[in-house]
Order: sequence, then C-alpha cells, then structure tokens
Amino acid sequence: MMNQTNSKPRILTGDTPTGGLHIGHYAGSLEMRVAMQDEYDCFFLIANHHALSTRAQETKDVAADCVNIVKDWVSVGMDPNRSTFVLQSEVPAIAELTWYFAMLLGYGRLMKNPTIKDEIRVKGLGDTYSFGFLMYAVGQIADILCFKAHAVPVGEDQIPHIEMTREVARRFNQLYCGVDPQTEDADYVQAGGLFPIPEAKVGRVARLAGIDGKQKMSKSLGNAILLSDMPKEVKKKCNRIFTGRGTMDDPPVMENNTVIEYLRAFHPDQSRVDELVEQYAKSELGDGHLKKEASETINALLEPMRERRAKLTDDDARDIIKSGSAKANAFAEQTLWEAKQAMGFDFHPRKLVIE
Ligand code: TRP
Repeated sequence: MMNQTNSKPRILTGDTPTGGLHIGHYAGSLEMRVAMQDEYDCFFLIANHHALSTRAQETKDVAADCVNIVKDWVSVGMDPNRSTFVLQSEVPAIAELTWYFAMLLGYGRLMKNPTIKDEIRVKGLGDTYSFGFLMYAVGQIADILCFKAHAVPVGEDQIPHIEMTREVARRFNQLYCGVDPQTEDADYVQAGGLFPIPEAKVGRVARLAGIDGKQKMSKSLGNAILLSDMPKEVKKKCNRIFTGRGTMDDPPVMENNTVIEYLRAFHPDQSRVDELVEQYAKSELGDGHLKKEASETINALLEPMRERRAKLTDDDARDIIKSGSAKANAFAEQTLWEAKQAMGFDFHPRKLVIE
C-alpha cells in the first residue's frame, strides 16, 4: 500500500490536449504552476479523455497532442523531476471514481453549471452534444479528488467545475465517511473525511482576450498566440490584433484594448507601459507602435521557452508521461481503495501492472 502522506500540500491541475497551449494559458495558470512547484506536491494532468468530448473522430491527433502538451509544459519550466505528469487515460482509478461521483451529482445541477452552458453556446453544440461531453465535468471531479488535491490552479472559467468538485467532496465525506454536514470545509479530513475540500486558485490574469479582441483566447477559435509560435508568427499575429478602432482616423480606444491588455499582462516594466499608454491616448503613438512593442514583449517571454523545448525529443516526452503515470497510479489506486472501503465496496484488493 502506498503511503500518501507528504508534508507538502498537494495540487492537481490539467490541460485538455487541443493542439498547443497559448499565452492565455501561461498567464492564467502555467506561470503559477511553475512557481508552486517548491511549496506543493504537484500533479499535472493531460486530460485526453476530456479531449474526446469534441475530438472523438481524431484520436490519433489527440494522442500526438498529449506529447505536445508535455513539451509545452517543460518549455515553460514545469519540471517532471519535481512534479508528476499524468496521462488521464492511463489512470483507471479516475474513470472508476467518475462512476461513484456521477451518482452524487444531480443532472439539473450539472446543467446549471455556467461553464457547461457557455461551452454548448460558444462551440455551437446545440442539442447534439454527446453524453460524454457532460461526463467530462464529472470526470474532472475525479481527476481532482483522486489525488486528494488541496488546491487547483485554474483559469477563471474553471471555477464552476471546482465548485461542483467541492460539493461532491463534501457529499462523499458526509455520506460514506460520516462527516457532520456542519463541518467547516478546512476540517473535513480531520473529521474523518477521505477528501480535502479543494480550493480554486486563479492566476494573475484570469482571462486573456484573443487577437480578435473579442473572444477569450482559444486555439479552436483561431485567435491564439501559441507558446510554440516562432518569432515571425508572433509578429504577424500581433500585427493583426484588433484594437477596437474602426479606421486609423478614429480616436484610440482605451477600454478593453487588446494590445494594451497584452502589454499589461506581459511587459516586465509596467511604468514603461504607463508611458506608452499615455502617449497612445494622446495619439502621439499609433496602433502599429503598440503592436510592435507587444510582439517584442511576447517574443522575449517565449524565447527561453523555445530553448527548453528544442532540447526535448518526442521520446523524452513519452518517457516523462510513462513514469509520471506510474507514480500517479500508485497514488490513485490507493485513493480508490479507500473510497471503496468507505462505501463497503472493498471486495477484492488488486495490484495494477503497467508494462
Ligand atoms: N477542463 C480543463 C480545461 O479544459 C482541464 C482539466 C481537466 C482540469 N481536468 C482537470 C483542470 C482537473 C483542473 C483540474 O482547461
């Protein structure tokens, strides 16, 4: 039996393989993960089951994107020697716990989740989405609770999922571990619960607009600057940023201007940005100038990432997932067993063998 105790608190977070992480992911979550690696025992999950909710027709591409995520992660400074990189499909305990948690969550409650509602709208899913699409949010609860996470670093859009996770954790602890419903969230484990009630931790930039200046940055909307983009590509994309101005004769738009948003999010010298913005407001500088500053700023941010990425082969990335998933399984199997014990479903102890 694995000993799960570690003096450090644990975090679990993850990304869905959709074909390349972008600077919005970086400011919203990746940057914070890098900083948390010393203080926390970190599990980082590649959510390839979740990817099937929109990409069931292209499983081979999803598989390739799993390797790409590892490269993105290592490139930003997430460190597989200190943290555990987990491939969701290779941790069966997650899928099993999803069953139990699905029974503790009302269908009506799930359908009120604003992120689910948003996704149905933005992705134009109408009423054609799969049953599995709804399941992904329950699966996410299992991702988190399987590792008994204390905190979950995420972008703002994920908060409703973390809220559902907290509800299910409380419910499981009350129902199967006899924890008093009056217990404070912070005291659930002490009161005999199996799962800590996890907290969402939102990064420095909760939401970053895409270069279209309208929607949230998203690879599938085609408005993203990817961490893997080459300098020229970044420059081209920055030139296309929509600043809110109809024509060059219109006055500069100061509210929700995406080029300013990027400078605020990524420029290391904010007093310099103050100056630029002031001159821009007086039309002493045009869009082109700010776009050039933005492209230089973003390229400076990405340069060390490009160097780290270049050192990693596909095989290295696959090895990282394999050893991480083995470690994750040891932990997750233990959690599943404890959950089954609490439920009285502990029929047969088992050992998972990965070849
Ligand atoms: N749904 C998250 C996203 O698309 C990815 C994810 C899967 C996740 N499992 C998770 C995030 C667990 C936090 C915790 O961004």
